[in-house]
Amino acid sequence: MITVRADLGDRSYYIYIGNGILSRLGCWVRESAAGDKALLVSNRKVLALYGETVSASLSEYGYQVIPAEMGDGEEYKNLATLEKLYDLAYDRGLDRRCPVIALGGGVVGDAAGFAAATYLRGVPFVQVPTSLLAQVDSSVGGKVAVNHPGGKNIIGAFYQPALVVADMRTLRTLPRREIKCGLAELIKYGVIGDAGFFSWLEENIDKLLSLDEGALEYAVAVACRSKARVVEADETEQGQRAILNFGHTVGHAVEVLSGYGVFCHGEAVAAGMAAAAKLAELMGLLPAAQARRIVSLLSRAGLPVSLPASLDSGDMIAAMRRDKKAHAGRLTFVLPLAIGSVRVFDDLPEELIREALFPGK
Ligand SMILES: NC(=O)c1ccc[n+]([C@@H]2O[C@H](COP(=O)([O-])OP(=O)(O)OC[C@H]3O[C@@H](n4cnc5c(N)ncnc54)[C@H](O)[C@@H]3O)[C@@H](O)[C@H]2O)c1
Ligand SMILES: [Zn+2]
Repeated sequence: MITVRADLGDRSYYIYIGNGILSRLGCWVRESAAGDKALLVSNRKVLALYGETVSASLSEYGYQVIPAEMGDGEEYKNLATLEKLYDLAYDRGLDRRCPVIALGGGVVGDAAGFAAATYLRGVPFVQVPTSLLAQVDSSVGGKVAVNHPGGKNIIGAFYQPALVVADMRTLRTLPRREIKCGLAELIKYGVIGDAGFFSWLEENIDKLLSLDEGALEYAVAVACRSKARVVEADETEQGQRAILNFGHTVGHAVEVLSGYGVFCHGEAVAAGMAAAAKLAELMGLLPAAQARRIVSLLSRAGLPVSLPASLDSGDMIAAMRRDKKAHAGRLTFVLPLAIGSVRVFDDLPEELIREALFPGK
């Protein structure tokens, strides 16, 4: 098992990463929440797979477990789900010391986290991420939110968990496509700040694809450590945290234009990272050989490295200007200067982006 600490003053917490550690959850939760009840938020599929192990461990440490099942899918990350969670917590008499535990992927984590942040002005929140994306990205950092009909993550907060427990063994039941999507975010950490980890990924990508537990444990720990370091430096996304958006300017536009659900997030981000690498190469920022290494690793992970041919360049540019993270409609990109080092470029000229993303169009 590997332990990573997120150092955020009185909101610091531990992230436990290991194989078969779900059965130890209760002991760790007990260290951070004194209550006698625990609201276990999950969905039917994940609850059927891991609910029993988790509940048994929580009961052993004196919690009465209240299962709170929510719908499975992005469309359930909404206010209607929150209302049900608040109702259940209130009806069952959860008090301020009782933890809310998110067992599942990023959808469960984001919704349960927002409920924990707001119920009684905040109760202890525990993340038990069971998708690779949630283990390497959404469970660490304290961003919690639900969607509004007008856009993703519009209603949210910064609310750090008290504890994160990531069990690699849960990934065995995760659909293959979701594994690849998580790999996209792992590759992102290599490019934005860790050339050594990028080389390790080049050597071990096949082990990760075959769910080698040791390789997964190491890679998830590196990712959590890098995310924790970025969040420690910039908890509320004033500046440095923006580098985590590498590949996401194009990625978000691809997701919006092809309709949510056609591309999973990691696939869209992979195409976005490949596009950013090509753009950086075109601008003379990144040596061609390094751009090739980025594209090649993404494609070895089974991820897309070019934009869907059906996408219109004008629509893409317009969608990128509308992105929630764009400032005043400017085209902002995180671009690699080398593998392991990126910089944020604000207000890039449109012609340049067209040339990199849609050569010859
Ligand atoms: N808060 C943040 O910082 C942050 C960062 C990135 C993404 N997100 C959010 O995360 C969400 C995406 O998360 P996701 O990719 O985990 O999607 P998800 O939560 O929808 O999970 C993907 C699918 O896998 C299933 N699943 C999860 N664990 C499983 C397991 N062990 N075995 C079998 N099936 C399993 C889920 O039920 C679901 O059907 C989005 O809503 C996104 O906005 C948040
Ligand atoms: Zn992402």
